[in-house]
Amino acid sequence: MSVDLHPVSPGQPAKRFAFLVHPRADVATDMGRVWRPLGRIPSSAWDWGLRRLPVPPQLLATVRRRDQDSSAGPEGWVLVVPVGARQLLSEDRRWAVGKIEQGIDRAQELGAEVIGLGALTAPVSGAGRLLRPRPGVTMTTGNAFTAHLTVEALRRLLPAAPGAHVAIVGATGSVGSCVVRLLADEPLGDTLTLIARGERRLAALAAELHERGSGVEALTATSLDAVRDADLVLLLTSAADALIGPEHLKHGAVVLDDTQPRNTDPRLLTERPDVLVIDGGVAAIPGIDLRGDIGLPRGLAYACLCETMLMAFSGQTGSALGEAGVEHAIRMRDAARRFEQLGFTLAEPLSFGRPVSWPEPASVLVEAA
Ligand SMILES: NC(=O)c1ccc[n+]([C@@H]2O[C@H](COP(=O)([O-])OP(=O)(O)OC[C@H]3O[C@@H](n4cnc5c(N)ncnc54)[C@H](OP(=O)(O)O)[C@@H]3O)[C@@H](O)[C@H]2O)c1
Repeated sequence: MSVDLHPVSPGQPAKRFAFLVHPRADVATDMGRVWRPLGRIPSSAWDWGLRRLPVPPQLLATVRRRDQDSSAGPEGWVLVVPVGARQLLSEDRRWAVGKIEQGIDRAQELGAEVIGLGALTAPVSGAGRLLRPRPGVTMTTGNAFTAHLTVEALRRLLPAAPGAHVAIVGATGSVGSCVVRLLADEPLGDTLTLIARGERRLAALAAELHERGSGVEALTATSLDAVRDADLVLLLTSAADALIGPEHLKHGAVVLDDTQPRNTDPRLLTERPDVLVIDGGVAAIPGIDLRGDIGLPRGLAYACLCETMLMAFSGQTGSALGEAGVEHAIRMRDAARRFEQLGFTLAEPLSFGRPVSWPEPASVLVEAA
């Protein structure tokens, strides 16, 4: 873990921030959010052009606090690193990291002192550890607040349900391992299946749970087939594609999908009406004026963007890179309470972007049984 946090006193001056995102699986749709005509260019042409042409980072949105006079300009910016999700994962790593560095250069030119690594810019840059150090700049993956908000959503979906089986896909990642550690003291259900491709990290995480005497039966698996027994499935992988489809889930399962780009196949909507998919990692921010289309309904923001704001508003001076830490998650939870006039609370649930209701917790188990 590489977290270099300094304690923050409430009187610390606020900083300005930038948050980096990138086009998701469908590059044309996301570039159309920057400027509508760009959405008419086919995605295949985007993939070709973004690899070969020197396309600079683009401004997607500006952010202002509603409780302050923002005549001096916005408190933050959302910038697009012009590389699609699949390209970020498949191209030469040095090239991809170089594109992220260009986004950070642009952020600094705008005056940002706190910079958040959104979506896959964190996994691709080794949770920020592959980026060059920049004195005076505070960097964050935004993963700790994401882990905190995810645990809140899990508890909303399944509070203290004995007998429940929870599976976490991407359990060994930066967000995933923090969620597992946050759950260790107050586990959900009786069985927790940890899923990822790398066996060594899975075994180490399961052993850690065992040593902490969490009381939960921790299983590990490297195949997605292992989600088939779970009542509640949490998705936290860094894959660019839809990994979980109608064939993977048991009857009545509930899925919390935090991933960007999303890992749940839209066929679930039509082929598995018994399954509920909730879009995870989303917070309500009624006190923030976010101008620009980040792909969420107005008044909502991704948790990692929220962490970037919280660190900027509280004048944080140390970076939070690498594996997200439990201590930082708690610090961000407390910061969210301090700025509660702006929001930073768990958003009302969406499923594939459409409003739905929270299921009755007991019904999750009854349905699955
Ligand atoms: N909504 C939000 O605000 C928010 C905030 C932060 C992050 N996120 C999203 O959360 C996801 C995870 O981010 P992260 O920074 O934690 O990533 P990460 O540190 O790279 O972790 C990814 C995890 O997924 C596993 N994984 C990757 N590909 C897989 C595959 N094909 N099948 C099974 N497991 C796979 C990895 O382990 P192996 O490599 O061993 O398989 C690892 O456990 C990303 O989609 C990110 O965009 C969302």
